[in-house]
Amino acid sequence: MRRVFEYRPLIPESAVEYVRDVLESGCLAGTCGRFVKKFEDALARFLGSRYVIACSSGTSALHVCLRCVGVSYRDTVLVPAFTFVATASSVLHSGAFPIFVDIDVESLNIDVNDLEYLLKRLRDRVKAVTVVHIGGVPADLSQILDVCERYSVNLVEDCAQALGAEYNGRKVGTFGRVSAFSFYPTKTITTGEGGAVATDDESVCSIARMFINHGEDKRYHYVMLGYNYRMSEINAAVGLAQLESIEQYINTRREFAEKFMSEVSNMLGDVVRFQRAPPGSRPCWNLVQMLLDVDKIGVCRDRIVQELREEGLRIVTVAYPEPLNESPLFRNVEHLLPYRLDVEKDVMFRRLERCLYVCSRVVTLLVPPGLTREDAYDVADIFVRVIRRFCSSL
Ligand SMILES: Cc1ncc(COP(=O)(O)O)c(C=O)c1O
Repeated sequence: MRRVFEYRPLIPESAVEYVRDVLESGCLAGTCGRFVKKFEDALARFLGSRYVIACSSGTSALHVCLRCVGVSYRDTVLVPAFTFVATASSVLHSGAFPIFVDIDVESLNIDVNDLEYLLKRLRDRVKAVTVVHIGGVPADLSQILDVCERYSVNLVEDCAQALGAEYNGRKVGTFGRVSAFSFYPTKTITTGEGGAVATDDESVCSIARMFINHGEDKRYHYVMLGYNYRMSEINAAVGLAQLESIEQYINTRREFAEKFMSEVSNMLGDVVRFQRAPPGSRPCWNLVQMLLDVDKIGVCRDRIVQELREEGLRIVTVAYPEPLNESPLFRNVEHLLPYRLDVEKDVMFRRLERCLYVCSRVVTLLVPPGLTREDAYDVADIFVRVIRRFCSSL
């Protein structure tokens, strides 16, 4: 019988026990109970970060990060164009405006030269840079930090896809002034829905705590406009149980991804090129991103993806089919803003050629935490068989 590979998170037995504990305690919200605090402490220890603030989602965590570094009305934030919408929509939620940076075709992360070009042109109109570690592969943080320091701009890390990835021996999420994580089911660990903010900066932490809790500094006393972005005890209980096995999840994913990539490379050569990690980094491979040489294969990417899925690889998708700046939301963004932008049109509405190139060729493999090294051979076999069907010379 043909095997179907679908994405499923791993939920340990202890998660059921912890959730029962929460339900029996009667303290379900994040404002009372023990699990949110335990989850935050355990995550801070894992990251090597001084403070962690649990949130309702990765999107709300990004909103918190931007507001904590002072991003507000009329500011500009630079973000890569090859990412999930929340990296940029969180900028709009903060009253600011995202300007999109092109990516590097090897690493698929932000292009540092393009970042510097924009910082040089926009100077102090830029309040922050959000860097994304796409798929769990760290962006080149030493170069990015250097540019951000030279232009005195805040670095925010969007680590939604990168919990557990390392750069020069340190976990990503500990390099920027503040960082956001997501616990959506396809991430390193899941709480169903959930997110977190990490920082070493005490003032950022205290603003974040107020911001996620209605702007309250003490009971029923409000000092800023805030939201209800808290994580519930139930979500934290699931997250804590997963955090206890996080090393195992990361190692299994690494083993699977590395085996899959080496098998496909051995059999198909450079018809499939994998995302390249920068020197000194250890990706956590939430996704395996690859670019297909569609000219050599002779068929469009979407047709290949469709066949891969029909052959049982339901873990294959396209993340992402278009640069964010090309989507209607951001093309028409001027009409959304209650103010006139003072950014030149040639900066605001650029064609990002490298991102367009990547979006037309990228194929994404979601990496479930429960697959083994042996599964990697099977997935690679299906993959290679489908590609060879189109290109018999391979
Ligand atoms: C890069 C990136 N940023 C932000 C988010 C938003 O996280 P959430 O779905 O938890 O709101 C995601 C989630 O898919 C993501 O992949």
